[in-house]
Amino acid sequence: MGYPTSITLIGAGNVGYHLGRRLKATGIGVAQVFSRQGSKARELAEAVGAQPVTRLEEVRPAVGLYILAVSDDAIAEVAKKLVPVLAGDSAVVHTSGATPSAVLAPFFPKHGILYPLQTFSREREPDFQSIPICIYSPDAGLEEQLSALGRRISPNVHRIDDEQRATLHVAAVFVNNFTNHLFHIGQEILRKEQLPFELLLPLIQETVNKLEGHTPQAMQTGPARRGDGETIARHLAYLKKFPNFGEVYELLTKNILQLYK
Ligand SMILES: NC(=O)c1ccc[n+]([C@@H]2O[C@H](COP(=O)([O-])OP(=O)(O)OC[C@H]3O[C@@H](n4cnc5c(N)ncnc54)[C@H](OP(=O)(O)O)[C@@H]3O)[C@@H](O)[C@H]2O)c1
Repeated sequence: MGYPTSITLIGAGNVGYHLGRRLKATGIGVAQVFSRQGSKARELAEAVGAQPVTRLEEVRPAVGLYILAVSDDAIAEVAKKLVPVLAGDSAVVHTSGATPSAVLAPFFPKHGILYPLQTFSREREPDFQSIPICIYSPDAGLEEQLSALGRRISPNVHRIDDEQRATLHVAAVFVNNFTNHLFHIGQEILRKEQLPFELLLPLIQETVNKLEGHTPQAMQTGPARRGDGETIARHLAYLKKFPNFGEVYELLTKNILQLYK
């Protein structure tokens, strides 16, 4: 079974914006783009050669696959609203790492997941060649189609069930969302002291580069790794200026100390 040759994208946010362009680039037709905001629907639809729609009632039935790239909390609500619009046997998937596929089950028996495991922002071009595409469906035929579609998008396709995806997402929050927040903290501290954030960029890059061929645990350095209590005390005294950041420093330091004691 091949990949669906025509797809409707519901949602024109960060994921819709990039996934739509990738589908177009790989020669897959996008039939319609839905966004509640006309300008976003039009912009993406124009880029991918699709029809823009701003009301779910305007979504056309009989398209090969419907991809819901909407906020996690809106997936079930949007799927419910599509029930009177689409045929009952329509294939409907969502792109969320954190949301079970089962949220679609009450509305569309043929449902599944197309989760691109990457951080997407409109401002930044992703490299789809390296992005793991996690697919899953309880429907064997749809799963085969999603696998074929995934391989058009990226050579890095994995069948990941709901439980595995939930686990992956927790780990992803640590390695991406939390590290990025820590970069923000670093930037705020430097900004307050009128020092340029660029000074830290080689350090940030090397932190990631070192993971090639080494475990994060083996690559850990710093006062908590060494058990340098006096340095930690000086840092905590300095961070009295930034009580919210001090809390984070203390928690992470405690966690690292426990690991290396
Ligand atoms: N960004 C990432 O790094 C990333 C990575 C992998 C997976 N995901 C998943 O992909 C999905 C979309 O994420 P995103 O980052 O693209 O989010 P986003 O940029 O915030 O866009 C969310 C989209 O959802 C739409 N939406 C929200 N509530 C809605 C509602 N009640 N009815 C209809 N549409 C609604 C918004 O529509 P309007 O334009 O009309 O406001 C917007 O187009 C999420 O499930 C997320 O977990 C995200």
